[in-house]
Amino acid sequence: MATLPAEDATRRAPLALARVPCHVAIIMDGNGRWARQRGLPRLAGHRAGTENLRRVIQRFGDYGVQYLTLFAFSTENWSRPKTEVEGLMRILGRVIRRELQHLHENGIRLLHLGRLDGLPPRLRRQVEEAMELTRHNRRMTLAIAFNYGGRAEIVDAVRRIVAAGVPPEEVDERLIARFLYTAELPDPDLIIRTGGEMRISNFLLWQGAYAEFYSTPVYWPDFAEEDIDQALLAYSQRQRRFGRLPQDESDYPHPSENGRPRPR
Ligand code: IPE
Ligand code: IPE
Ligand code: MG
Repeated sequence: MATLPAEDATRRAPLALARVPCHVAIIMDGNGRWARQRGLPRLAGHRAGTENLRRVIQRFGDYGVQYLTLFAFSTENWSRPKTEVEGLMRILGRVIRRELQHLHENGIRLLHLGRLDGLPPRLRRQVEEAMELTRHNRRMTLAIAFNYGGRAEIVDAVRRIVAAGVPPEEVDERLIARFLYTAELPDPDLIIRTGGEMRISNFLLWQGAYAEFYSTPVYWPDFAEEDIDQALLAYSQRQRRFGRLPQDESDYPHPSENGRPRPR
């Protein structure tokens, strides 16, 4: 893993990076282990996990990241104990109440990714109102994946495509992308997972096809500015190829050539 040069390890100054991702998506994992480490109930970990949201959003904003997606509750997380599930719903409601004005004043547009109709009606209304309030904001888009599953998203897209009567020959990758929850977002360039696991856990299955993946052992409540710097530094040093040859190979096709090799 790339390490920060010592002179850049200060907190406040973002690094000067050659390349910054346009869209960063984060699997916010490790709240439960964070709590267990301290002898606290799991919900205390989830609450602590909301305390770092401001600094995380701010730091990515400082770097000029345009889209930030946060995975907060998966369709599979319903199989956790009822008290934890209900606690997570309450916590989301509280975070919206606490943060909405601040986000709005900072020009942040809120989006929701997932199935809204599975949520308690009050929470659902809150999410809808937050999206409505911030819909014209353009400084940054913050997408919250809550009751989100990558497979459920594809199922929902296929259902809507069929219901719209789209003829089979019109179905292509671009059309499918337009029917996903993420229709308004570019594909993620970087997917970060905190808590150390090396798996995707049903997150952005379609959109993450060519995302760079970065896993850090840091638990989500501890994920701080310097961890963001590390992740972005690692990203800036990756070589993205999208199935092509490296840039310095002589027959590397120019993007404007539509991916076809240059005639010899
Ligand atoms: C991530 O933290 C938050 C959710 C999945 C809701 P976890 O609750 O999965 O924390 P760990 O993985 O048990 O530490
Ligand atoms: C992924 O974390 C989902 C969220 C962070 C919301 P999980 O803790 O649910 O994933 P698994 O069970 O370890 O794969
Ligand atoms: Mg987990």
